[in-house]
Amino acid sequence: MGNIVIVGAQWGDEGKGKIVDLLTEKVDCVVRFQGGNNAGHTLVVDGQKTVLHLVPSGILHAHVTCLIGNGVVLDPEVLLQEIELLAHRGLLTNASRLRISDAAHVIMPFHKQLDRLREEKMGAGKIGTTGRGIGPCYEDKIGRRGIRLGELLYPDDLKEKLQGLINYYNELLPALYKSEKIDFATVYDQALSWGERLKPYIENTSVLIGKLMKQNKMLLFEGAQGTSLDIDHGTFPFVTSSNTVAGGACSGAGVGPTAIESVLGITKAYATRVGSGPFPSELFDEVGQGLQVRGKEFGATTGRPRRCGWLDLVALRHATRVNGLTGLIMTKIDVLSGVDTIKLVTHYECDGERLEDMPTHPKLLERCKPVFEEIEGWKNDITSVRKFADLPTSCQAYVRHVEKSIGVPLMLLSVGPERGQDIWLQKF
Ligand code: IMP
Repeated sequence: MGNIVIVGAQWGDEGKGKIVDLLTEKVDCVVRFQGGNNAGHTLVVDGQKTVLHLVPSGILHAHVTCLIGNGVVLDPEVLLQEIELLAHRGLLTNASRLRISDAAHVIMPFHKQLDRLREEKMGAGKIGTTGRGIGPCYEDKIGRRGIRLGELLYPDDLKEKLQGLINYYNELLPALYKSEKIDFATVYDQALSWGERLKPYIENTSVLIGKLMKQNKMLLFEGAQGTSLDIDHGTFPFVTSSNTVAGGACSGAGVGPTAIESVLGITKAYATRVGSGPFPSELFDEVGQGLQVRGKEFGATTGRPRRCGWLDLVALRHATRVNGLTGLIMTKIDVLSGVDTIKLVTHYECDGERLEDMPTHPKLLERCKPVFEEIEGWKNDITSVRKFADLPTSCQAYVRHVEKSIGVPLMLLSVGPERGQDIWLQKF
């Protein structure tokens, strides 16, 4: 098996953490390539719950090297807390197991401040961000004024660069939000201390990946969020600020597309979304509430309830195309047990037209009416089923129908949150 990219095929929270954990047994290295601590994975180790936001969950497997690539934005406080926690539990005893790109951009306190102030000001039209400073940090990256992790190791150069950035924010924040000026010395001291503490982990991870590939090591590139939250291919502007699609693995880790052999898309058996923005298949009734409760659809990062809806084949076909999916993994199918009639969005109708593809224009997407097909549900609890043939016939029909509709082979079905609650359809 060659190098794999794992991406969310929906709006995030597809259960990628569990799948990455499962596949990590077969790989040597797990790489995060975009996003930041807007993501969250809940892990249970020896009965103790740990929520990781930045460190790849592969850290739980002693044989795996975990990398945080240049495409990630890092909140050093959060990263240091995670490192301390993992070290305390004996899960990170050697810095060689966690390598962090010197080119990853640093989330500064004023990025978080701007994220929150801006959302407050937008009121009802807000994006519903996680408030972690993700957008403002990426803005400074693209604006060519952001600070990269490796720069924290050069105090004199940092002083000049940070002073320039803080001057910029000291014009922006009081003018737009009437907030107080940022004290340069406080942030500078903090930044130097972050650099000092993170120094053992900082490296040029693209070079390291190149070396690992020469040694024929197998890499798994772990996407955060999901396709419909991609800055280019998602439901703009209600998206995150990075490329969540498979192509982002190349730019966000520093590898060429020829390094990737397979791209696996993870989808829930239904759909969820956190934050604002169009969600054509959203349910506002007790069926949606049932999915929310049974599926424990509350965010691992912010605790916000997730909006729930039916599986949207238009969005899934879109994800298949923009990621070049070679395989599909469906999670949480057990949550659909007991639903009498399951619906699937086949296409949209908008302004009297039939649409097979997601429209790019946000107002058009808001006006899209989903057109559903119905599939008979099943009653039985399927959480202990381990063979496809043992699933209720209507459950088999549902899964096969999705697979046929998007034209990508289904590799794995997850029927519960625990390790082992899986049905393999194709082995890797
Ligand atoms: P940001 O990434 O904090 O800027 O938030 C932008 C949008 O992406 C908001 O709608 C968030 O709710 C959503 N979002 C960001 N990270 C995640 C995630 O890990 N899962 C689901 N939604 C997310």
